[in-house]
Amino acid sequence: MEEGSWVRQRLSSSFTAPGNNIHSGMKLGCAHNYVLCAVCTATICFLTLGISVLYLQGPPSPSLPPITLLVWVHPFGRFRPLPDCWEQYRIHGCTLTDDKDAYRQADAVIFHHRDISKGNIPMPPEPRPRSQKWIWMNHESPSHSPGMQRFDGVFNLTLTYRTDSDIYVPYGHLIPQVNSSRSLDQTTSLRRPVRLLAWVVSNWSESHARVSFYHKLRQHVNVDLYGRKGKPLAKRRETMLGLLRQYMFYLALENSQHTDYITEKVWNAVQAGAIPVVLGPSRQNYEHFLPPEAFIHVDDFPTAQELAQYLNRLMQNPALTKRHLSWRQSYSIHQPTFWTEHYCTACKVLRRTRGQTSEVHRLHDWFYS
Ligand SMILES: *[C@@H]1O[C@H](CO)[C@@H](O)[C@H](O)[C@H]1NC(C)=O
Ligand SMILES: *[C@@H]1O[C@H](CO)[C@@H](O)[C@H](O)[C@H]1NC(C)=O
Ligand SMILES: *[C@@H]1O[C@H](CO)[C@@H](O)[C@H](O)[C@H]1NC(C)=O
Repeated sequence: MEEGSWVRQRLSSSFTAPGNNIHSGMKLGCAHNYVLCAVCTATICFLTLGISVLYLQGPPSPSLPPITLLVWVHPFGRFRPLPDCWEQYRIHGCTLTDDKDAYRQADAVIFHHRDISKGNIPMPPEPRPRSQKWIWMNHESPSHSPGMQRFDGVFNLTLTYRTDSDIYVPYGHLIPQVNSSRSLDQTTSLRRPVRLLAWVVSNWSESHARVSFYHKLRQHVNVDLYGRKGKPLAKRRETMLGLLRQYMFYLALENSQHTDYITEKVWNAVQAGAIPVVLGPSRQNYEHFLPPEAFIHVDDFPTAQELAQYLNRLMQNPALTKRHLSWRQSYSIHQPTFWTEHYCTACKVLRRTRGQTSEVHRLHDWFYS
């Protein structure tokens, strides 16, 4: 679906913004025939997106009938109060519930993958109410999403960090700002980069590419390691941002490498003003989300040693560093609140697409693509 996101990008002449992806029909066709799809996706996107951009921007009209959205299980089994979508996001007509008794009345049911993947949480009884939609929600990477095969042909809509999801909620995104007084540049003054390079890692596994990269890199440059294997770390996000502000660079190394899998590691660094050194999908993929100079990609250098030399050079040369920071004048950042924003975004899309049908035939293959 690269084509699709490219066209979308061109049309909006900026990075892929969330909230406008409701072209599940497109994905269906695609699942069956990739070759044809490559050709026709661009065309279909052009036609449908042209219309949808006009149609679907902004909140749905208050006059549309309301939606009842049932949250089948709280993600990772952790209860969180459900949001009031109007109060928090100015989205009309959403009733969220976690009461399974509401199943028959629900317009849609949202399932968090990790919690249903093991098969120990019963799914609702079939046949499901006519026109009810089942939503597959997942923000883990394919490598950490076991058991997807069993869900081929089960769901109607996808809700993930991938730009080609039906309901698109990335880990973060940039918002173009004409007025620099509202841009990320304002946070640049908070930066106190007295230290060179940090890495925070919670799940340490020698089998991860990021760990072997770390082993290579630290032979050439000092890396301050935090997390289970390093210095202890308070979990609160504010503390994390405070820590990152002290650093010139931050290692934003994903646990696995997959399309669009660009997580809060990058966005926290961006927020704090530390220049992210990224390991994840290709540079080209990152450039759908960030200006090219906003990050340093490990693939930019043939060896870890050359990357280390570049970081040292930047540390001693503020003029050179500016190259990686000046883009901040033109953007602000948004990081979603888990999971309230996901639910409310789902509701918004459901209201706009009421009456349409769709099926996710090949969940596993799509998510790995
Ligand atoms: C930029 O925003 C600030 C504060 O929001 C405002 O005072 C200023 O007039 C704005 N400047 C322009 C050029 O719009
Ligand atoms: C940590 O990484 C291992 C190895 O990839 C993986 O099996 C495990 O699920 C991960 N744990 C978490 C909490 O993501
Ligand atoms: C939802 O998906 C199921 C299973 O693929 C399908 O039978 C049903 O018709 C779909 N419903 C809608 C409203 O799209």
